[in-house]
Amino acid sequence: MWRRVASLSALISSTSNRCFLDQVAYRMSTCKLFSSEVKENPLTLKDLFITFVLGGPGSGKGTQCAKIVETFGYVHLSAGELLRREIASNSEYGSMILNTIKDGKIVPSEMTVRLIQKEMELSNNHKFLIDGFPRNEENRIAFETIIGADPDIVLFFNCPEEEMVKRVLNRNQGRVDDNIETIKKRLQVFKASNLLVVDYYSDKGKLFEIDATGTEEEIFERVRPVFAAFQHDQK
Ligand code: C5P
Ligand code: MG
Repeated sequence: MWRRVASLSALISSTSNRCFLDQVAYRMSTCKLFSSEVKENPLTLKDLFITFVLGGPGSGKGTQCAKIVETFGYVHLSAGELLRREIASNSEYGSMILNTIKDGKIVPSEMTVRLIQKEMELSNNHKFLIDGFPRNEENRIAFETIIGADPDIVLFFNCPEEEMVKRVLNRNQGRVDDNIETIKKRLQVFKASNLLVVDYYSDKGKLFEIDATGTEEEIFERVRPVFAAFQHDQK
């Protein structure tokens, strides 16, 4: 079921001067969304198995998710990719999202959760890898509030900072945020916010920490047993 959210300001905190007006416009539109009365959430009708995939920039989340999809039949939803798609679609929030990404900051959570929710609802599958999410406590709480679900398991790709920087600078995917200035900011945000989320799931006994050094194959051999162990729990 959808739930009312008492305070939007608690969920939306990242504001930079440059995109302030975009964010105000976004807040106003989400007020409308959140003021609607309780209605059925089609996702509660699915027997979901949700995996959050965490790790710093360049820790190999996307690469390993592709292998998990191939081997275990999950749907891969990358939060960053959904946001980049939103920019490319000329959405009214495109410039706000672009400026936030260029700044290495985190997009207001309802925006990201709505994009994830749309994809989950459209999918015929019930097993999801949600990559690059939640990036902070605000993301985590927004997902719980809007989707009304917790992850079943959480993967954390742990990688030394120098290795992450090297991988991001070498990957040549034409991303606006794969430059050294933005990478430094992304690493700061990662250390300040993402590690809190990692600790939260560790305390809940849901965290699987993966050593993200070595080759793609070596890393996948550390990932494989996690999903193999849960295969029997899923219909
Ligand atoms: O995960 P990825 O590296 O693709 O994310 C790129 C950027 O997208 C992040 O640095 C951040 O600016 C934005 N993002 C976000 N919220 C998320 C995931 C990504 O704001 N949950
Ligand atoms: Mg990625």
